[in-house]
Order: sequence, then C-alpha cells, then structure tokens
Amino acid sequence: MAYDIDMIKKVYTQIAERVDKAREVVGKPLTLSEKILYSHLWDGEATQAYTRAADYVNFSPDRIACQDATAQMALLQFMQAGKKKVGVPTTVHCDHLIQAKQGAKKDLKRANETSNEVFDFLGSVSNKYGIGFWKPGAGIIHQVVLENYAFPGGMMIGTDSHTVNAGGLGMVAVGVGGADAVDVMAGMPWELKFPKLIGVKLTGELNGWTASKDVILKVAGILTVKGGTGAIIEYFGEGARNLSCTGKGTICNMGAEVGATTSTFGYDDSMERFLRATNRDDVADAANGVREYLTGDDEVYENPEQYFDEVIEINLSELRPHLNGPFTPDLATPISEMSVKAKENDWPINVDWGLIGSCTNSSYEDLTRAASIAKQAVDKKIKAKSDFGINPGSEQIRYTAERDGLLQIFEDLDATIFTNACGPCIGQWDRSDRKGEEKNTIVHSFNRNFSKRADGNPNTHAFVGSPEMVAAIAISGRLDFDPTRDKLINEDGEEVMLEEPKGIELPTRGFEVEDAGYVAPMKDGSGVDIKVASDSERLELLTPFKPWDGKNLLDAKLLIKAHGKCTTDHISMAGPWLRYRGHLDNISNNCLIGAVNAFNMKTNFVKSQLTGEYGGVPDTQREYKAKGIPTVVVGDHNYGEGSSREHAAMEPRHLGVFVVLVKSFARIHETNLKKQGMLGITFDNESDYELIKEDDTFNFIDLENFAPNQPLTIEIVHADGSKDTIKANHTYNENQIEWYKEGSALNLIKKLNA
Ligand code: F3S
Repeated sequence: MAYDIDMIKKVYTQIAERVDKAREVVGKPLTLSEKILYSHLWDGEATQAYTRAADYVNFSPDRIACQDATAQMALLQFMQAGKKKVGVPTTVHCDHLIQAKQGAKKDLKRANETSNEVFDFLGSVSNKYGIGFWKPGAGIIHQVVLENYAFPGGMMIGTDSHTVNAGGLGMVAVGVGGADAVDVMAGMPWELKFPKLIGVKLTGELNGWTASKDVILKVAGILTVKGGTGAIIEYFGEGARNLSCTGKGTICNMGAEVGATTSTFGYDDSMERFLRATNRDDVADAANGVREYLTGDDEVYENPEQYFDEVIEINLSELRPHLNGPFTPDLATPISEMSVKAKENDWPINVDWGLIGSCTNSSYEDLTRAASIAKQAVDKKIKAKSDFGINPGSEQIRYTAERDGLLQIFEDLDATIFTNACGPCIGQWDRSDRKGEEKNTIVHSFNRNFSKRADGNPNTHAFVGSPEMVAAIAISGRLDFDPTRDKLINEDGEEVMLEEPKGIELPTRGFEVEDAGYVAPMKDGSGVDIKVASDSERLELLTPFKPWDGKNLLDAKLLIKAHGKCTTDHISMAGPWLRYRGHLDNISNNCLIGAVNAFNMKTNFVKSQLTGEYGGVPDTQREYKAKGIPTVVVGDHNYGEGSSREHAAMEPRHLGVFVVLVKSFARIHETNLKKQGMLGITFDNESDYELIKEDDTFNFIDLENFAPNQPLTIEIVHADGSKDTIKANHTYNENQIEWYKEGSALNLIKKLNA
C-alpha cells in the first residue's frame, strides 16, 4: 500500500523553483491552485502565463486511481496501448460492485461470488502492469486515497468524478474518463483546459449542528449544478483552517456536484494531523519543509477579488444545517425551513431510511458525530423511526470504529452495517422495504440524489445532509425534524431533545487495522496471463473504433432529442448495469434509456425513421447501425453531468451515433466524447434546439474543414422537405481533432507507440 515517498519528495524538491518561476512569468502572486498547476506542467518550468478557460495545457499528474466499475474499461483500453507497466503510480479499488442487502459479511461474500470474474481480471491486470490493487471490502476509493496516497501540493487524476475528494489534503485531484487515465498510464501528458478560479473565503467556526457538509450544501445552492463548470474552487480563510482534513475532503468531494473541475484547500495543521494519524510522518515532515508553497500567496487571500474570477464568502459561525434535494444536489433548504418547503412541494414527510456513508461522509469523524446522536437515542429510550444503513469508508475506519464501540452504537439502533463500499450511493442496494415505485423519502449523507440513483425508484425523494443530521432525521422519522427546536417522544412517553453532536476528529488511540485489503503488484508482472473468456457476459476485449473517412457527414438521422436533465446516469445507468461495465456490447443495451424523449416525454421510447414505429433507444439505434445509417443525439444544458464514466460516450459510439449536439456539456463528458472519436458540439444559438423535429435528417456540410475555433454548419432537413441551416460550436483543439480523425484518442496513442 506504500505511497511513493520518493515521488512526493521529488515534487517538493521542484516546487519552490517552479512556483517562483511561475510567479515571475504570470507577473503576480499565485493562488494555491495555480501553484499546483504550474508546478505540474508536462514541459517543466513555466515559460508562459496561461489564459484561464481558454488555453489547453499538458500536465504531468503524480498519481492515478481507478474504481472497479470504470477500471474495467480503462484497463481494457490500457491493454491496447502496448506498454509493459503503468507510467505513474496507479491503484485500483474494488468498491462499486458490492450490493448492499443483508450486511457486510454476507454482502461481501455474495459480491465475491457474483463478480469474481471481474475482480480476478482487475487483480491480474493490476499485477501484470504494476498497479496497486485494493480488494473488495478494502474501502471506498476516495477514503482509501485520502488515508494512503493524497499529499499536499500533489496532482492526481482518477476515473471517478469524486476523485476531487483528495482536495481535502491539498491536492489538485480531478475526475477523468478512463481514456484520460490511459493516456497518463501510457506515459503521455494529461491535457486540461486551464481552469477558472473560484475563491471561497470561509470565516468563523462551525458550531452546534452545522457540519462541513453544510458548507458545500450551501455552496451548491449558490453555484447550482453548473456554476463551478471549468473552475477550481479554492477555499481559504480562518474558517478553512478550523475545519478537519476529512471535513475538507467532504467539501471538495461535492464540488463535483457544482460541476467544478476540482476543489482544494491550502496545507494547514489539520492536514498535518491527518497525515501523522495515518502513519505518514515523512510526508508531513516533507510538506512542512515547503509549507509556503502549499498554500496561496498572502496577497491573494487578502485581496481575493483581484486574483479569483469569482469570490464567495461564507461565515461558518452563522451557517445553519441544510438538506439538499430531492432529485438534484443544488436544491438547498436550511433545515429550519424544511417544514414549510416540504408541504409546499408535497414531498413525503415520513422518512424510510437514513443512510450514512459514501466517499463523501464516511470518515472516522463522521461516524463519531453521527454515533453521538445515535447514542442519545439509545440512552434516552427513543426508538428510531426509520431504518439505518451505514457504509464505513475503509476497512481501517471500520476496524477502528468497531474497536472504539462506534458500530455497536448503531447496531443498538438496529442499523445494518454494510460493506466498506459504495452500496446504495451507486444504486447497489437491494432495498427490501419498497419494491414498487411508490413515492417515499430517504435521507443520506452521500453526494448525489438524482432520480433512481439509490434504489432505481423514480419516486424515491432522496435528500442529502450531514451524517449527524441524517442520524437525527432517521431517529425522528420526519423530513421536517429540526433538532435545534423539535422534541421527540421516548418509549416512556416523555418529551426529549437531542443534544448537539460531538465528534472526534481522529481516533485518540490511533487508527488500527488487521488486513487493510491491499495487494501489491509483482515487481515483474510480464509473465502474468490475463484471461477473458470469449463467451463472458461481463468482460469483452475491445475492438478499435474506425477512423473518420475525412468526408462530410450526410443523411444522419435523429435518434433522440433529450429533454431537460440528461446526466451520465440517464445515458448509461448504474445500478444493475454496473455488471456490464467491462463488456461494451452488453452495456450498450442501456444506452440513453433514462433520457426523456422531448417529443413524448417518455423514457426509452423513440421513433424509428426506418419503420415509423416506436421502440427502445438501444434497439432502434441497433437497427440504424445494421443499415449503416449514422445518427445524432440532441440534448439540453449540461448534458452528461454527473459521473466520469466513459461508457456514456463509448456506448453511443459503439452503436453508431456520430454526433451529440447540445446546448451545453458537462466537462468530463465532453472530453470523453472527444476521446472516443465522437463529434460533441453545441448549438451556436440555443433556441435552435426548438427547430429539431422528430423525423429530422442532418447534413454536416463543412465537416471536411474541421478546424479549431471554426464553427460547423448543419443543414437540418425536416420530414416535409423544408430546411433550416444552423451553426454549431466546438472546443476541439488540433490534437483533439487528431483523435477524431484517428477514430479515438487510443488509436492515436497506439499509432504513436507503434
Ligand atoms: Fe462510490 Fe458514491 Fe463515492 S458511488 S465513489 S461512494 S459517489
């Protein structure tokens, strides 16, 4: 599990020189984000100042982390790159494929039986190519990374959108598609558009029922799901220093929910405490040696308006607990207003489940704060009205929490302790109490609450809160319970109140674990044989996508015009489909089945222009593919928001969709489309979305001149023969156009490696 101290020391050896040089080139004091970006340039020292939100820059990340659901496709792609070993330290974490049902022991056993083919594949590919492997049950990727690998001032990428969690330990950590990770594994640079910078000044100190989670719930309410797009959010100020390291992780984690590239905090005492508590004194000592380079310059934080593109200020002393939801993480409601708002919106008041865990909130501190509420319920003889489910963040946390009696407190409230894994957060939840699609409410400490995400039921209203607030609400059984004001009736009929939560930042007796679940790779893995059965349902070796023929794309048919929110969950659902993440053809049967057809407001019900009949999206698309007819997907704003899964780009590509034309894209998805050789473009005039009719045919009449900064012209031919000609914009640079020409970024890597 060893972190690479030599690599970290190398980063710190270079940082002073590189940051000083960058400051000179940029000509002004630097934010922390800029220090990390400029000290990780692929070409070494800065020679020019980059323009935010405009320049594409090549970076050299220090680490890569992949989770089991995305690692399958990433590693299948890496296997095609022709390399013997990964180019930078990489780890694979088995956390997504474990269904929560009966509790950790049984669930883990079942997962090991049902997904052993995939775990074996990931384990042997890791062994062969020098990748650290974290077994099922070892923990949730981002908690494991925070506890073992993250380091202040570092840069990492990960094939999961919540890789950003490592910002809690002062990194620039970015969620990417598998294809980006493959580039870096193959020793190539990682390209990113130089981000904008949003500064969040935190003053005061959290108190009472307010937690770190409430900071990001508040920020999400301010910025909305798109407000952070293309930006790094940098937190600073006395309030930031008052937060624990894992609390900072929570805030950074949910930066993904506002579309931010990542979020980060400057190195401080809380990070040093966390590094030492997780047995990394050498990293803390090395970081202390370059402390001033691991935070923004003083002038920046004194006059943030001059250095950030946007500044938000939050006084932690005045911040109150929030619940965000349902169906979107940016619908922020202070708990004190929930009673009125729930009535107005007809949200079910009774809460069925309180779920604590996920990569967002499963630290030792989170468990102690929630346990301090659960303990009061036991002591004050209050019976919990809702069911409780707990997913500890890692085996190290679980073992320590068990040793310290925390898990027993939850068990005394009849909670189910699930595996140290994602579970309900990614729809891996065999929910026993409701099998139909009835309207109901759950509260959880996770990050995402899109429709169907936790249990597949579109009528489950999921609300996001801090672990302690989830505990209080689950005990009361009411969504509108405000523990600062409301009383509960105990088993003796007495009125009692819950006192404020108390947390322990780091275990006073230290962390402990017997088997953390790590498997180191062999020094020389060249003899390791990777087996993929030809009749496997779960895994399939990849066939390269075909290169572009260099011609204009003509007579492309509309497959679907998606209405409203179309996240990666709508494009490539998780839950039961996680099973096929390593088998492109099989998983393509979920392609866009969650997207709402703008012409009938139904999901998975589109008109085939070949037959005039309505059918499912994948089936309809397969008919077009069989006849060699290219198709177009049209979408609304922030298309592809949510996860980093490249399946959302590979599936349409595999099925023969050529173009995705939308009002705007979520960043990772746009890059994923480019990497897979798709044309991802945006309406020049948003209202042109309204021109698109169900029977439309598209001609891309100047694609032959595809070039950076040059809009494309699209002729839309309607069923009655009338035509509209519109413009579409794109953000492809020279290199990305090469990906398009070659058929995919991977095809280009292979060509360069040949
Ligand atoms: Fe897992 Fe949910 Fe985080 S799926 S990685 S716990 S967002």
